[in-house]
Order: sequence, then C-alpha cells, then structure tokens
Amino acid sequence: MTKQADIIVHGASQLLTLEPTLAHGVDDDEEACALGAIRDGALAIVGDRVADVGGSERILAEHEAPLVINASGRTVTPGLVDPHTHAVFAGSRHMEFALRMRGASYLDILAAGGGIHSTVEATRRASLAELVALTRPRLARALAFGVTTMEVKSGYGLDLDNEVKMLLAVRELGASQPIRPVPTLLSAHVVPKEYEDRRTQYLDLLVTRLIPEVASRKLAAACDVFLDRGAFDLDETRAILGAARAAGLAVKVHAGQFTDMGGPELMADMKGLSADHMEHVSDEGVRRMAEAGVVATLLPGAAFCVRSAFPNGRRLADAGVPVALATDHNPGTSPTSNLPLMASMGAALMGLTCTEAMRAVTRNAACALGLEGEVGSLVPGRRADLVVFDVPDFRLFLYHFGVNHAVLVVAGGRVVLEEGS
Ligand code: NIG
Ligand code: FE
Repeated sequence: MTKQADIIVHGASQLLTLEPTLAHGVDDDEEACALGAIRDGALAIVGDRVADVGGSERILAEHEAPLVINASGRTVTPGLVDPHTHAVFAGSRHMEFALRMRGASYLDILAAGGGIHSTVEATRRASLAELVALTRPRLARALAFGVTTMEVKSGYGLDLDNEVKMLLAVRELGASQPIRPVPTLLSAHVVPKEYEDRRTQYLDLLVTRLIPEVASRKLAAACDVFLDRGAFDLDETRAILGAARAAGLAVKVHAGQFTDMGGPELMADMKGLSADHMEHVSDEGVRRMAEAGVVATLLPGAAFCVRSAFPNGRRLADAGVPVALATDHNPGTSPTSNLPLMASMGAALMGLTCTEAMRAVTRNAACALGLEGEVGSLVPGRRADLVVFDVPDFRLFLYHFGVNHAVLVVAGGRVVLEEGS
C-alpha cells in the first residue's frame, strides 16, 4: 500500500542529505559521499516534515502525493541556513564604504562617531512598521538564493525600547514571510553615544533590565557581544554573556574581527554556540574551540568589504573546528544577501573544500544556531526546507559563483518560491 504524502520531489541527480550514512549510488565520489548524497534522489514530505528520503524508484513506489516535483538534472539541498546577520536596520552606509575605499578604516570611522552609531540613529528614528517594511525585501532576496533559516540580530537600538522594537520586527517577519528568522540580542554591539562617559551604567542596563526583559518575553534565542577594540572587552563580554546564560539564552560572540581578545577561549569555557569572524585567532583559541565543539562562523563578506585578510578556514577545519559561513548581512561591513557566494568564497579564498563549504551553509550553520535537529539536513523528521538548484552537481553550485542557481524553494513543507512564477 502506498503512503500518502503532501509533496514528493524526485529524480535529483544529487540529493544532499548531509547525513553521510544515507549516501547512495555515489561510492565512486568521496566528496558526494561525505555530504550524504543520493544519486537519482527523492524525498517525501508530510505536513512540514521530511517523511522519507531515498532513491527515486523506492520513494515513488511507496508514496503518492498531490504535488510531485521532477528535479531531474538538478541538485537538491537542505534549505540554506544563514547563521549571522544584522538584517534589521534603517539607513544606508554607502558613503562610509566610499570613505573606506579611499583609505579610511572601519574602526576609525566608528571611533569618530560614525559607523554603527549612524545606523543606530537611523534605526531609532524608524517605527516598527518601517523596520518590518525595510527588512522584508532583504529576506525575500535571501530566500531567492535558497535561504530558509536566518539568524537576525538586534544591536542598532541600544536602549530597551529600540532593541525590543528590532526584535519585535524579527518576530513579525517570522509570522509573515517564509524564512524562519532566529533572533539574537546584540545590545552589546557598541556603547551608545549617550552612555559614552557612563560605560558601566550601560553594562548595568544590559545585565539588570534588557537581558532579563528580552529573555522573559522570549524575544531572542541567544545573546551576542561585539568583543573587539572600540566595542567591548573580555571582562565585559564575560559579564554580559554570563547574565544572558543565567537568563536562559544561548551565547555567542563577534571575535577577532580586528584583534584577538580571547573570544574563542571564552566560548569554549561557556559552551557557546559559535565564535564569529575569526580573522585573528591564536592556536590556543583554535584548539579550545575544537575541543569544546564551538562552531567558527566565518564571514567572508565582511572581510571583503573592510579589505581585511580573510579568516583561515583551512586552519580551523584541519584543527577539527566545525566551520559555518554566513553573509553577516549588515549596512556597514557586508550588505550582501548572497549566501551561496559566501560558500564559493569559503572555498576559493579561505581554503575550504567543496564539501566543507557546502556543509558550512547547511548542517554546520544549523549547529551554529543550535538547530541541527531541526534544519540543515534532509533526514526524516527534520523540517521540510529544501532548495532545488539548476545544476547537476553540487560543485557547480560553488564553482559557478555569483549566479543564483535556485529554481525552487520549499520551506516548512510549502513551495514558497518557484522560478518563473
Ligand atoms: O559583524 N563588527 C561588528 N558588527 C558587524 C558590523 C555592524 C556594522 O558595521 O553596522 C559585523 O561586521
Ligand atoms: Fe556581525
């Protein structure tokens, strides 16, 4: 007897499950095996879940569905996961980009009161409805590239009302468009101007009011700190993240973008989800992250846009650190929505293999959000998020860079984007 499904996708030249034990028909291809690829792959979806994955012949014999999608000649992957963005903001910083292209540095612009501070001013002026309207097309662009889960940080409000406003914008978007946004509190992005001479009072505000309020209203899943010169130091970061963890939030950190200030070791100590950026990191930091299983979320768009050296993905992967890649979508250092391009850059510029780059925007990116049991792989029971790319081999997705190959996106068991429609 055939089982009733809602959607069947079949005929994929490669279906990447990201679960190596599910690899089938690719014995001659070590890289595809490592990604759990199924040749002539298929899957059945029931409701918002993956119900079955396997070869097309078996899946079509055992299931029937009102919607049957032929993916022949194409590659099917899990919905892509972008584990680090600042996608909610108002204003533009293209003039700051122009200044940097003439030699100004990111940290000098920040120290002079521009940079993040200018986005804070614009974001504070925007209403909740305006922020939602500004962010919606950014998410739509990411979805078009195949992103179905996206971390989104606060960090341009920097006071109770405005940080909550940003997180409410994330919540509203979660209910009204297909990408699943995962909110992170980043009130420790910089000390806002009005607290310039009262730094400890801002820290107090974070620890005693903002973090407890956001955690109790479940407005964020995690807390992040910009640990770097011109932002927060290690002791401050430890105190803020300690309070966040005590309030039930997961913790992560912007570490080593400009200076290594001990973020990787702190994440290892605190069992954090990830240390992000990692342009500068010591051997000890790398070793501690590998030992503790902390994900390194690398952000090639930011290194590109501030003209810094790229983080060394090879060094991290060789040491056994799980590597994820993200867009860091933000108005200052990385205005891109193109996560597949970040994967290509991870391979071509940061030393990752094609297999590692693919894993970095799927399974490892899900780990960076603590959501590996939910998204980032195509295994029965996971959320039915998938992308059909118009390439017969996953390496083409990376090699043919800068182009959008996504032709169909399923999120939560619904076709949410289809080429030509
Ligand atoms: O990840 N460096 C800190 N935060 C962001 C940039 C934010 C901004 O410049 O607006 C980043 O690069
Ligand atoms: Fe960032």
